Amino acid sequence: MKEKLKAIFTDRFASNPVFYASAGRINLIGEHTDYNGGFVFPGAIDKYIMAAVNVNGTDKVRVFSADMDQYTEFGLKEEDKPAEQWACYVFGVCREVLKRGFEVKGFDAVFAGNVPLGAGLSSSAALESCFAYALNDMFNENKIDKFELAKIGQSTEHNYCGVNCGIMDQFASVFGKKDCLMRLDCRSLEFEYFPFKPVGYKVVLVNSQVKHELVDSPYNKRRESCERVAKTLGVDTLRDADMAMLEAAKTQINDEDYMRAVYVIGEKQRVLDVCEALEKGDYETVGQRMYETHHGLSKDYEVSCEELDFLNDLAKECGVTGSRIMGGGFGGCTINLVKDELYDKFVETAKTEFNEKYGIEPIIIDVVISEGAHKEE
Ligand code: GLA
Repeated sequence: MKEKLKAIFTDRFASNPVFYASAGRINLIGEHTDYNGGFVFPGAIDKYIMAAVNVNGTDKVRVFSADMDQYTEFGLKEEDKPAEQWACYVFGVCREVLKRGFEVKGFDAVFAGNVPLGAGLSSSAALESCFAYALNDMFNENKIDKFELAKIGQSTEHNYCGVNCGIMDQFASVFGKKDCLMRLDCRSLEFEYFPFKPVGYKVVLVNSQVKHELVDSPYNKRRESCERVAKTLGVDTLRDADMAMLEAAKTQINDEDYMRAVYVIGEKQRVLDVCEALEKGDYETVGQRMYETHHGLSKDYEVSCEELDFLNDLAKECGVTGSRIMGGGFGGCTINLVKDELYDKFVETAKTEFNEKYGIEPIIIDVVISEGAHKEE
């Protein structure tokens, strides 16, 4: 990819670029908990966005998306927002860096990636983190700390892309470390690296190819439900709520919001259970919690879809240790924890049966837990 970007860049802009990359992510467990102040358990993966970048001495950003074969340019003022959605990610990052009092000047960039789009692997966070990292390195002597880089990506989503997301994806993309998952407490922002190399198991994603699209999606509605319940319970976020509090206030909460809160409160504990189980090498418990999360996401939080429920049922029938929908939902992938000896059978069954039912083969994605945002040497 680097060679390809280099060729396009020198051809278009006739100068020598520097290369930056940042990763997509998986999340073993802890879904829709980040904006509720709860725990998440993600890791960066070996699918990434890479950008070739160089200053251009003007006050304009000129950027080419190699994958989309589209070029655009924009200025750095608030009113210069580009029309193309993909470019708003880059523009938003520039604006958020500037708003924080840091420097951004005109630059040229070409980027490409291999994070599948709309699969729930956070291609947009990878793009934001890649550019946030690049702007920090090129214009700010890396003075912006890593959490702020993640927040720059998150604010880009909020202010320029219409998704009121939590911090998980950008955090994972910036902080990712090879062979490690990270348990992040989204209230205190404290986190811990957990070495993750399950012996005898593989982590495999099955992409339903149902496009998940969070912009203008019910994602924001889910967040609003949670905030309403928190307010009724008199707490900052659902992190500070438990089932007893929820039950006591049940009559003041509408049925839908109640179900959302049941899921979130349960998920908080499931992440902690999984961390504890992992430390003991108890993958059966890890897997059980994953299935419980799927059930909650499907029935209480209602962010699954028929195809993903089908894939989850298939996993269960095949004897897969753990399986659940991953990411924001409304399409995308399931994440599966599969015993080595079951891997071939599961992949084959998922492909065949899904294809028979929906007329399209799901895409199998093997992931390796990898480094997050960095400069390519
Ligand atoms: C999306 C958001 C994240 C998080 C997940 C659900 O990926 O960007 O902040 O809320 O959904 O866990």
